[in-house]
Amino acid sequence: MKTRLILSLMLVVAWVTACGQSGQRGKQAAGNDVPVFLDDTKTIEERVEDALSRMTVEEKTAILHAQSKFSSAGVPRLGIPELWTSDGPHGIRPEVLWDKWSQAGWTSDSCTAFPALTALAASWDPDLAKLYGVSIGQEARYRKKDMLLGPGVNICRTPLNGRSFEYFGEDPFLSSTMVVPYVQGVQSNGVAACVKHYALNNQETNRFLTNVKVDDRTLYEIYLPAFKAAVQKGGAWAIMGSYNLYKDQWCCQNEYTLNGILKGEWGFDGVVVSDWGGAHDTDQCVNHGLDMEFGSFTDGLTSGPSNVYASYYLANPYVEGIKSGKYDMETLDGKARRVLRLIFRTVMDRNRPYGSFVSPEHIAAARKIGAESIVLLKNDGGVLPLKDEGKILVVGENAIKMMTVGGGSSSLKVKKEYSPLEGIRERFANAEVVFERGYVGDTGGQFDGVVTGQDLNENRSAGQMVADAVEAARDADCVIFIGGLNKSNFQDSEGADRQSYELPYGQDAVIEALAAVARKMVVINISGNAVAMPWVDKVPAIVQGWYLGSEAGHSLADVLSGDVNPSGKLPFTIGRQLSDYPVQTEAQYPGIARTEAIKMGPMEATIFDAEYSEGLYVGYRWFDHESIVPTFAFGHGLSYTSFEIGEPKVSGSVEKGLTFSIPVKNTGDVAGAEVVQLYVTARNSSVERVPKELKGFSKVYLEPGKTATVKITIGKDAVSYFDAGKHEWVAERGDYSALIGTSSDVLPKTVDFKY
Ligand code: BGC
Repeated sequence: MKTRLILSLMLVVAWVTACGQSGQRGKQAAGNDVPVFLDDTKTIEERVEDALSRMTVEEKTAILHAQSKFSSAGVPRLGIPELWTSDGPHGIRPEVLWDKWSQAGWTSDSCTAFPALTALAASWDPDLAKLYGVSIGQEARYRKKDMLLGPGVNICRTPLNGRSFEYFGEDPFLSSTMVVPYVQGVQSNGVAACVKHYALNNQETNRFLTNVKVDDRTLYEIYLPAFKAAVQKGGAWAIMGSYNLYKDQWCCQNEYTLNGILKGEWGFDGVVVSDWGGAHDTDQCVNHGLDMEFGSFTDGLTSGPSNVYASYYLANPYVEGIKSGKYDMETLDGKARRVLRLIFRTVMDRNRPYGSFVSPEHIAAARKIGAESIVLLKNDGGVLPLKDEGKILVVGENAIKMMTVGGGSSSLKVKKEYSPLEGIRERFANAEVVFERGYVGDTGGQFDGVVTGQDLNENRSAGQMVADAVEAARDADCVIFIGGLNKSNFQDSEGADRQSYELPYGQDAVIEALAAVARKMVVINISGNAVAMPWVDKVPAIVQGWYLGSEAGHSLADVLSGDVNPSGKLPFTIGRQLSDYPVQTEAQYPGIARTEAIKMGPMEATIFDAEYSEGLYVGYRWFDHESIVPTFAFGHGLSYTSFEIGEPKVSGSVEKGLTFSIPVKNTGDVAGAEVVQLYVTARNSSVERVPKELKGFSKVYLEPGKTATVKITIGKDAVSYFDAGKHEWVAERGDYSALIGTSSDVLPKTVDFKY
């Protein structure tokens, strides 16, 4: 009630001010009580036009750039409020100072950390993506954020990419399917999702300086679909340009990707936001489609000069350019119109819900999403689920290390993060649970002033730690090794890529030593990327654990105990070694330095050209093409029960929708979920095609002994390729096969069809 009253008063004040200063009193007095732009019975477009008609050039540009690290100014004279953004994409970033990266020191900003997006992708469950989006959107809203800087949908091109953990894996169809409900969920709160990083931001090495060279077909078929789905199906209200270049233009000011594809071909009506420090000159920012500029003179992680907002490329230089006639009003209006639309969709939507923060529902959602995303990679002899173990030995730093702090802009502050060790201790209260460190990885634990408070220092030598762990393993009924990567530099972290595909800190040797003595052994790999597993044949059970957020320990214990039957599937291929992957040469990655420098804002910069010469052959497309057997294939994931796929029936047509009805039976003893996957192969295409591509999937939950019929419908999209010459998608007539199964390498059913 009180808030409504204040809002009504604000409306009146704003109206009086608006009428007084815009010289439009006469127009408003003609029978209209409230100016059109404040009247939410009017359409957003009517409100936008009305607000725009009242604004000065200075006011129009003021809403196009930051006024602080994470906010932009509104139009105070008209009562249009500020717009606040926040990272993203796994929880709401803790509050920083107005013009600094350091902490504001709030005591009320400890959020729910949801599992990383790779984990969400591994759930292969769009309903969970919706739950995720709704929940994180509620947290954003409660914290008065109008735009969430996420989700990230860049394709995992190399497992070295430091930011893979923030994305949905290697496949465009999976990423596209999962991003849509996430975006819709966030925006159901009146909070914009800002889909990032558009486009071709597939590495952190030289991230500001890499110019991607990719052919059009690969661009459209591999790297753009998730962005397009987020925009066209998800209705995203904002998109963030990436740091890198494409066709020699930075992607925050890129004529081809922004004006050409995004706004032109896809009809995007939202706002293009620069990544923090991704804008580099006024001409291109003005003319090539950027709408909102943030973080200039900094890369979002490092500090730059203070309070330079007036000199942003879209601030004073833009105003001067308008006044001198260099830039036209129409372009400025176009940008301001988009930002006003965003404002009316979010901060000026009086009917949006109020949100909630660290609610029991959010904690439960984080736990559920986490448990559903865990992938059981291997389970020989039914080692898992754990039974009544007398003594459980847990080894490894990742059993105790907090993972919500670190990794770059997605770093969070949480009230409580359940570590794997805590989760195991709590769930297996009747067992003796012993911990051994095994190795020392990263003992740090701070990001931008948020500290974990954990003391991870260790005095023993590396050899002693292994010896102690092996000794403890001798009389343990079960050894659980919990290691992998972490969020420090050169691991799963923004700003730098991994330096090797192998596990760091000598973990392979620790695992081998334990495997030699353990009666039962489980390895849990915590990472957002594929890693080498040279010990794969020596360890009976392997689990892919991800970064699971606040409820990590609970989600893991749910699966280890069998309270939750694992149903996650890999969103990327785990190769045996780095050379298994398509990105092999320096020219492909990280790129070759040019000899001539180019201008980057006030500086000169050396650009690196990265040739995506592997083309369409990314992830399993490459492994299939080269017949390389990975350690674990894309789409792989086991269960504590077993499933049988029956004979598919087909109805309909590609033109109108071809539906495959696939019987799935739970043939084991416990309830569980299976992801039925459908890949399409073109048998006689006139153009080069990859061996197979994911074109449909469906997750089904079944009680033991029960059968359900899963329906997967494909359309023309499933048989189309992008014809670069014609610059259009072509659904080609011909013979196709649908390969149906439970993993990209387990596809027992083949159904031929024609288009
Ligand atoms: C990152 C973005 C992030 C922004 C704001 C940048 O460094 O690339 O993903 O949203 O900072 O923190």
